[in-house]
Amino acid sequence: MSSESIVLMSPAEIAKMRDAGRLAAQLLHHIGAMVKPGISTQELNDEAEKWTKAHGAKSAPLGYAPGGPPPFPRSICTSVNEVVCHGIPNSKHILKNGDIINIDVTPILDGYYGDTSRTYFVGTPSPAAKQLVEVTEECLRRGIAEVSPGKRIGDIGAAIQEYAESFGYGVVREFVGHGVGKVFHTAPQIPHFGTRGKGRRFEAGMVFTIEPMINIGHWRTKMLNDGWTAVTIDGKLSAQFEHTLAVTETGVEILTRLED
Ligand code: MF3
Ligand code: CO
Ligand code: CO
Repeated sequence: MSSESIVLMSPAEIAKMRDAGRLAAQLLHHIGAMVKPGISTQELNDEAEKWTKAHGAKSAPLGYAPGGPPPFPRSICTSVNEVVCHGIPNSKHILKNGDIINIDVTPILDGYYGDTSRTYFVGTPSPAAKQLVEVTEECLRRGIAEVSPGKRIGDIGAAIQEYAESFGYGVVREFVGHGVGKVFHTAPQIPHFGTRGKGRRFEAGMVFTIEPMINIGHWRTKMLNDGWTAVTIDGKLSAQFEHTLAVTETGVEILTRLED
């Protein structure tokens, strides 16, 4: 458990988060458009790094080492098929038709972090993959719909868990949403499972992510020897979507939404 206290951001700080969040959404959209059979995850990483720098920002993942070594060695996370999160881009990893890939980007703009991810289809998905990815995106939507002053953190996890488990899916427990702002990961923790009416009450100015990881099989994960890559314990598919959000006086603002 985190012992940090929850920072409430001022409207001026939320404006900075809005800029960082918009940049994150644009970066994700740009890299997502490159996803196709035959491209390597390294090529996605390299374009993300270049684009981020060209827009006056820095890639938060590169060199990130929250619990000590090893530092994360790339600029984005690319998590393919049974990889739950924190997949490391690699020039030997070529995407193939039928894969699913979560791309997770976090640019730092003027000191503020925008954290967002989506799962993309490579070519044509299997019906099982398509349903998993659609349900996971709906889990994020339902989680976001719980956020408003007066409701509680546990309401998010309850809504997500209820929906995901109604399809027989597993909700990952080991990785959770998090406070974000001038640091990458801070209080509060936002579990994607839980009990309605439990946990901290939302207050205007709280800024955090919701980022459900949903597995076709068991919720449990294991970490590979690289110290970062988390995979499903049973080798079945996992999907994830993530937004950075700010609690407002009346509800919630999605800071990483791509405006149309
Ligand atoms: N962006 C991830 C998250 O949603 C964190 C990635 S940490 C890294 O919290 F080092 F793996 F990039
Ligand atoms: Co996050
Ligand atoms: Co992220």
